[in-house]
Parts: sequence; structure tokens; C-alpha cells
Amino acid sequence: MSDPVRVAVVGGGYGSKVALPVYAELEEFQPVAAWSRRPERARELAEQAGLELGTADLDELLRFPGLEAVHIATPVVTHREFAGAVVDRGLHLLCEKPLADDLAAAREISTASRRAGVVAAVNYGRRFEETRRRLLQRGREVLGSPRLASVSLVFADHADPRSRPWTWVHDATLGGGRLQGYGVHDLDLLLELFPDVEAVAAATEVTVAQRIADDGELRPVSAEDTFAILLRFRGGGLGVVSFVATARHDRGDVVEIHGAEGTVRLDADGRLSWGRSGEELQVEGPLSSSPQEAFKHVARRFWASIREGAAPDPSLDEALRVQALFDAVRTADVERRWVRPERVAG
Ligand SMILES: NC(=O)c1ccc[n+]([C@@H]2O[C@H](COP(=O)([O-])OP(=O)(O)OC[C@H]3O[C@@H](n4cnc5c(N)ncnc54)[C@H](OP(=O)(O)O)[C@@H]3O)[C@@H](O)[C@H]2O)c1
Repeated sequence: MSDPVRVAVVGGGYGSKVALPVYAELEEFQPVAAWSRRPERARELAEQAGLELGTADLDELLRFPGLEAVHIATPVVTHREFAGAVVDRGLHLLCEKPLADDLAAAREISTASRRAGVVAAVNYGRRFEETRRRLLQRGREVLGSPRLASVSLVFADHADPRSRPWTWVHDATLGGGRLQGYGVHDLDLLLELFPDVEAVAAATEVTVAQRIADDGELRPVSAEDTFAILLRFRGGGLGVVSFVATARHDRGDVVEIHGAEGTVRLDADGRLSWGRSGEELQVEGPLSSSPQEAFKHVARRFWASIREGAAPDPSLDEALRVQALFDAVRTADVERRWVRPERVAG
């Protein structure tokens, strides 16, 4: 492998736990710089990963000599400004999901990246986890048109105000909430199989209203920890996407899709079942749901887009498709009615 891409990571959460270690492992990349909001944390990130620069100054990072690409992994409301600054400097962009906090902001990022002529991709990496990748493969083989598609996630990590500290994820004004955290991945998964959603209904709840902050004080939670989404596919069939972070008993992900021709089911232990009408279900697994392995696919494809002109995967058009649905879900929740998602190219 020749010619690694010199990449910087902006954000010390997912950015330091998944993105940086994967870039360091892959020969396609040379990680050179990291950004955190706090200078001391930025220096720590750089030291730990052996990078040339750790900074809290985004401009300094973007001016780093020889830098070619930037991975943005910061709160959702910051994506438009940060991603805009990246592409305006002619640097390639890998942005965390969701691309932005609404469709208009996501379109701005997409337009700016096209204008700059850079490669731009978005990390809807969960669909490349082995569990979900195989589910999509088998689903395409056996399902046919949708009858009922259900994705249900159950976690207990937010069940008490002290079980997880308050961060931007608990603040709706910073683009927090579990819809941005998990729901968009699950909408992306269903769109991969059934891209034509006619309308959505949705409800969100904050079921644990306060959370302990780093200073020991309880702070109010304004972003949902629980949601239920109902989708109506054009031409027939329903989808149900539900999530709770405050359950008393953890379970994980269960995906079950009934099509006109067959069935696929992913159990919480990573076992996949599938079959056509009239057949016994076949079973494989348990399969891996490693986020690192999933991100390797996204990162390698990002490299191939930069060096070989491959199409980014996931692309910004796919990000806009999810974003249109995400906007419709938000409107449906607030206005308590069925909403048709805006049609977007791609
Ligand atoms: N693809 C995936 O599977 C996946 C998984 C997890 C997260 N994500 C995405 O990654 C992005 C970041 O999420 P995360 O969980 O990594 O977040 P995080 O750990 O809470 O924070 C990430 C970075 O943002 C900084 N930050 C926190 N609050 C900020 C604010 N108000 N203004 C500016 N910067 C702020 C943090 O600063 P400090 O360094 O000072 O703490 C940190 O460097 C989101 O878009 C999220 O959806 C994606």
C-alpha cells in the first residue's frame, strides 16, 4: 500500500475511541493531528496516539502542513460550521452521523463540499457491522416487498440520573438525544432495504429528567432517551423503530423483518435467521457487531475515494436521505401527525 492519507481527527469521544485507533492501524492512513475543546485533552490525545499536533484551535489544525483529510466527531450542531471549515480549505471530509441537525444544514455541507471539489463521506458505519451487513445481504435475497419491519433497541445505561454523566447528548439545543445517537443508524438500515418511505409518525420522551454533571450537580435533560417511530412504506408495509436507554433490564438490538417472500431476524445475541416462504429458517452466528471493524470499511472506502476516485460509501446523498426522514420524524413528534419526508436526490 502506498501513499497513506494524512488525516486529523476532531473530537475526543468516538474520535479517540474508534476513529483514531483505526486510522493508526490501517496502512491507508497516517493520523497526524487531533482536536479537543480542551487544550490539555488535545495534547493528551496527541501524546497517546503519537501525533504531531494536539490542539483546541480548529484553525491551527486545518493549517497543519500536508494535512489532506479531516474526520469531524463533535456534537451534531457543530457539524455545519466545522465541516464547512474543512471543505472550504480544500480538505477531504469524513463527517459523523447525522450529517447535521436538520436537512437544510446537511444540504449546506453537501453543497459546500461539491463546490470545493473534495471527497465527502458520512459515517453511517453501523450498517457495516457484520450483524447488520449480513442482515442486509440476506434481506435482499429473501424478503421481497415489506410487510412489517421492526428495529428495537433496549439499553439500561441511562436508567438512573447517576448511571451516566450529563453531556451534550442530553441537551436538545446541541443536537443531542438518542435519535441522533442510534435512531438515524436504524433509519439508515431500513432505507437500505426499503428506500421509499411515504410517511412517518413519531413520539419521543425524556423518561429520566435529570442527570449528574461533572461538577456533581443535577442538570435537566432536554433530549429524548426514549422514542417510537412508525413508518408507512409507499406501495405497502409498515416499519417500527423503537428505542429505550432507561430500561431496568438491558437487552440490545433486535431486528425482525417480514417481507412478502420471506423473513430475516437478528437476535440480541448477534444470531441471524433467514428464510423464504415455505422454508425452515436458517441460522448463522453469533456474528460480530464491532464498531472498529465496521469503521475500517468506511475508512478504507474513504481512502479509495481520495486516491482512486471510488464513490464514497456511505455518501452524502445517503446522508441526506436519512436526514430528510429525521426531519420528518422531528416534525411528526412535535406536531403529533403523520408527515411525508421530503424527497432528496440519491
Ligand atoms: N458512527 C458511530 O457509530 C458513532 C458513535 C458515537 C458517536 N458518533 C457521533 O460522533 C459525534 C460526536 O459524538 P461523541 O459521542 O464522540 O461525543 P463526545 O464524546 O461527547 O464529544 C466529542 C467531542 O466534542 C467536544 N464537545 C463536547 N461538547 C461540545 C460543545 N458544546 N461544543 C463543541 N465541542 C464539544 C468534546 O470536547 P472534549 O474533548 O473537551 O470532551 C469532544 O472532543 C456525534 O455526531 C455522534 O453522533 C458516531
